Parts: sequence; C-alpha cells; structure tokens
Amino acid sequence: MTSLNDSRILVVGAGLMGAGIAQVAAQAGHQVALFDARAGAAEAAKSKLSSMLDGLVTKGKLTADAAQTALVRITPVEALGSADLVIEAIVENLDIKRALFAELEALLPPDAVIATNTSSISVTALARGMKQPERLVGMHFFNPVPLMKLVEVVSGLGTSPEVAQAVFELAGRWGKTAVHTRSTPGFIVNRIARPYYAETLMLLQDRAAAPELIDAVLRAAGFRMGPCELMDLIGHDTNFAVTHSVFAANFYDRRFTPSLVQQELVDAGFFGRKSGRGFYRYPEGAPALPA
Ligand code: NAI
Repeated sequence: MTSLNDSRILVVGAGLMGAGIAQVAAQAGHQVALFDARAGAAEAAKSKLSSMLDGLVTKGKLTADAAQTALVRITPVEALGSADLVIEAIVENLDIKRALFAELEALLPPDAVIATNTSSISVTALARGMKQPERLVGMHFFNPVPLMKLVEVVSGLGTSPEVAQAVFELAGRWGKTAVHTRSTPGFIVNRIARPYYAETLMLLQDRAAAPELIDAVLRAAGFRMGPCELMDLIGHDTNFAVTHSVFAANFYDRRFTPSLVQQELVDAGFFGRKSGRGFYRYPEGAPALPA
C-alpha cells in the first residue's frame, strides 16, 4: 500500500478528540474534512479551533500565517465522503462504530485506511463484519491531542501489518511518539489507568478525601494533573464507557468494576469540562485545556 503522506483525511466525530485530531492533521499539511452526526457540530468545532489558534497567535506560539493556513485546510462537511484515511472519533460504542464502518466502506476506495481512536474497544471486534477488516487499525490519541505526544497504534487480529506501519509512520511525521501494540482490553495506557481511576473513585466513595485534596496530593507526587481533574478533562461519559468496555472485556474482573460515583455524575449530565461541571465547576470562559 502507498504511504499516507499526502492523504486526504476525513475525521468523523467533531467532539473533544476529533477537533484536536483535525487540527493536528491540518497543521501537518493535510486537507481535512470534518464530519459529525449532530448538525452544525463540525462547523462549531471549526469556530472553536479558530479561536484557539488565534489564542496561540496572541501568545506568540504560532504565526498568524500558520494558523490561517491550518484553518483553511479544515472543511466541515454535512455528509460522509471519500478519503484516503478516515480517523473515527465518535462515541465509545461498539455497535455505533461498526455501523459507521459499514457506511464508510461503501464510500471509500479499496486502499483507503480506517483508523479508530477508540480508547478501549477491541479493534478485532470492531473489524468484524467489515468487507476489508485488514484496513482497520487503532490510532489512539490522547487528550488534549495537540499537546499529548503519545499515539498507540493498535492492531487487531485482522489488521494488516502494512496498514499499522503506515499509520505509525504518519503519527511520527505529525510529531507524535507512536508505539505499536496489539488489541487487548484498554491497550496499554487505559489498562494501567483503569485501576488508578477506580482507586480514586473508591477514595471518594469512602469519603476519605475530597477531589481537591486527591488532586493536590497526586500533583505533589509529581503527576501533571490529579486524577479528578483528569477525569473532568476526559469527560465522565467517555471515561465511564471505557471502564464498562474494559470491565466486560476482562470477563467482569472486579478490579475493573465501574464506580457508582461516576455513574451518578453521568446520570446528572455532569460530564466534566465539556458540560461545564464534573467534580469541579467550569464557569463560562474557563480554559478548555490545562495551561
Ligand atoms: P465527544 O463526546 O467529545 O465527541 C464525540 C462526537 O461524536 C460528538 O460530537 C457526537 O455528536 C459525534 N458522534 C456520535 N455518533 C456519531 C456518528 N455515528 N457519526 C458521526 N458523529 C457521531 O467524545 P470524545 O471525547 O471526542 O471521544 C471520541 C472517541 O475518542 C471515543 O471513542 C473515545 O473513547 C476516544 N478517546 C477519548 C479520549 C478523551 O480523553 N476524551 C482520549 C482518547 C480517545
């Protein structure tokens, strides 16, 4: 297969992750179409990106030219279309992602690659039912995408090694640190992170410490962010879905049991930064990303 160097990219899902991925791809020189099932969401994501890039220009971190060039490469679209590389960043749900891949396969040329940004769902299972399961690969970015270097390139049982390698090299060209891994529950980072979040949520459930204290302690221990503020950044809806998926994939091993504390936050719609409230409150105008 050809390299993905000059690929035309379609990012599906214009939420926290999709917007960041579109930005990084555009800054690396790609033409990027951005699609979201929610009408107007891709357009709104582009306006947010525009303000964010303006902010970087004001801070002197980016030239006005570079910001403008990146921005014009991103086109919000109202329907799925063809591309050389699709990066999927929609809701963390196996059936919804599978339905999307079926729709995409009808539109894409045979050598197009589909990369999923899933945090935890088996790439092997996601590929089931695809006409060309060898073209599906995990491309797992971290939040916030422009700042976080790591990309886990995840191979399912049917993923072609050439596809995994092409995505690995592409991530490297985008300035990321890519690693290859096989599709196991939670991959590498989320496998390690689940018990970390679970213990935090147990501390809260036991009323042993408040979020502020837990975050302060972990920061003092050398972490860049505490676990509560990190969960607020990730989004409790997504984090909770990831825990469910890793719990089920580990045959309901109790180490990965989802927490009632997080269930409550999700039920209340307190998803974290993106909804204005999680463990903490985020008044309008609060920065979307950690400083
Ligand atoms: P989000 O909730 O911010 O955005 C998801 C977007 O997908 C929404 O705008 C929604 O309207 C759209 N969407 C849902 N179903 C769709 C469909 N069928 N077709 C097109 N658009 C659809 O979620 P976020 O955080 O961006 O997560 C997206 C994916 O990235 C998930 O698989 C998640 O597990 C993964 N991820 C999330 C990270 C995080 O820290 N939030 C980190 C790494 C991966």
